[in-house]
Amino acid sequence: TRIYVPCDTTALSLGADEVARRIEQAAGDRGLSIRLVRNGSRGLCWLEPLVEVDTGRGRIAYGPVAPEDLPELLDAGLLDGQPGHSKCLGNIEEHPYLKRQQRLTFARIGLTDPLSLDDYRAHGGFEGLERAAGMTPQAIVDQVRESGLRGRGGAAFPTGIKWQTVLNQPGDQQKYIVCNADEGDSGSFADRLVMECDPYLLIEGMVIAGLAVGADQGYIYLREEYPVAHRILNQAIARAEAEDYLGADLRGTGQSFHLEVRLAAGAYICGEETSLLESLEGKRGLVRAKPPLPAIHGLFGQPTVVNNVLSLATVPFILARGASTYANVGMGKSRGTLPIQLAGNIRRGGLIELGFGITLREILEDFGGGTYSGRPMKAVQVGGPLMAYLPDSQWDTPMDYEAFAQIGAGIGHGGVVAFDDTVDMGEQARFAMEFCTVESCGKCTPCRIGSVRGVEVIDRIRAGEHPEANLALLEDLCETMVDGSLCAMGGMTPFPVQSVMKHFPGDLKG
Ligand code: NAI
Ligand code: SF4
Repeated sequence: TRIYVPCDTTALSLGADEVARRIEQAAGDRGLSIRLVRNGSRGLCWLEPLVEVDTGRGRIAYGPVAPEDLPELLDAGLLDGQPGHSKCLGNIEEHPYLKRQQRLTFARIGLTDPLSLDDYRAHGGFEGLERAAGMTPQAIVDQVRESGLRGRGGAAFPTGIKWQTVLNQPGDQQKYIVCNADEGDSGSFADRLVMECDPYLLIEGMVIAGLAVGADQGYIYLREEYPVAHRILNQAIARAEAEDYLGADLRGTGQSFHLEVRLAAGAYICGEETSLLESLEGKRGLVRAKPPLPAIHGLFGQPTVVNNVLSLATVPFILARGASTYANVGMGKSRGTLPIQLAGNIRRGGLIELGFGITLREILEDFGGGTYSGRPMKAVQVGGPLMAYLPDSQWDTPMDYEAFAQIGAGIGHGGVVAFDDTVDMGEQARFAMEFCTVESCGKCTPCRIGSVRGVEVIDRIRAGEHPEANLALLEDLCETMVDGSLCAMGGMTPFPVQSVMKHFPGDLKG
């Protein structure tokens, strides 16, 4: 019997190693022969550690399984996948949270041992790369453009157009593929899941990007706070090199692609692409003015594709199954699927991959099941700490870049953070400004100084000092930061503040 215990950070932090050890020991004590597989997570975070037993009736799951639950679960027949215990969830593939999803990018996640190349190939891995290897660079770029894929890091810029710009640069230049894995947005964990649970997917996407634009060197700029992803990525790269999926002669094609991981500097601003490039070059993470675009003048001044993990991880599917298969999913100009990460004060937090178009309310209620505390939900922040807070009246907005822009919000990287009615939205507005004071790179005045003044003005409003005059000042300051900042850090910090002024004015006045 195969028994699966996940090895990603969420499961590990909840005792998965000890659960795995005790299951192996119990099987040994009972004279049972089992094969314990450390799989990736399915992304049903509230059920971690989620133990699965492969039976003739599918993969029977139990969760959440704490080490201390095991004696009872073992007596109830966990090793044979017996039902009858309250933690038995039945065939996990039939679980509504999973069954309702449309997993294209995350299709393999949680099924396999992340480091097994055999598992990866057995589940359709490298099919995209094989197809790409037989295509011209222009044909690969065309596929990505026709798929409608837009950058999943937050800015939603069409990936195919970005690649085209890099491909159009003279071919005798050194070009680079840089993966932005400095996943810093609150509530975001989809990049981490890809890297920890399906690392070859990212590697395959980066090699395809290299073939498409004529780059033979890639770097993964990895969030320093992700030690498990760091270990798994380095092991995956070594194994991929050993089987020529990376290196000087890719699977006998004569083409080459080298890949290295670089640990990030631990600063939020290093997730901004130009600051990331500075940091990758060994300098302090200061934002560069654009233009020139990184696509033309990027890493070490060379043409560079900078893409988020999710964007690159989507590419193998597009190449393997065809641009139109991907483009047929979604709504409006938001094509394909969005890996939504549900977090905060929510009963069932996790990874939900769905075609664009589902409403925020369906995500919060049907998937999330309401707040964890059981109290009424008051606000939701989608897309990270620089995005608007949304009140109940806006939760019927479909997940679509344009629909969110219309209400002054953004989807960003797809992180959704819920708050119950005990939240003080005035405090959240202050936090936005305070976050900017801490994370600003300091290059431009509206952000570096504006955010400090923002905290002070909010404090005065909350203390009841000339609230009307200070509110007008805060509005003015927000406009100045939006219009005058060099990058999204200072330029978007006012969005959560303005949303609080508009939708939760009572809270702001303290
Ligand atoms: P941007 O709109 O300036 O650029 C988007 C991307 O398109 C960049 O990579 C840019 O270099 C590229 N680009 C634009 N025109 C191009 C052309 N003609 N050819 C080739 N490439 C072109 O946005 P920016 O400042 O890079 O990112 C802001 C976004 O980042 C925000 O919307 C926010 O949601 C997101 N963000 C994400 C975070 C995360 O942790 N994932 C954290 C903070 C912000
Ligand atoms: Fe740096 Fe802030 Fe200016 Fe961005 S907006 S360049 S983070 S000071």
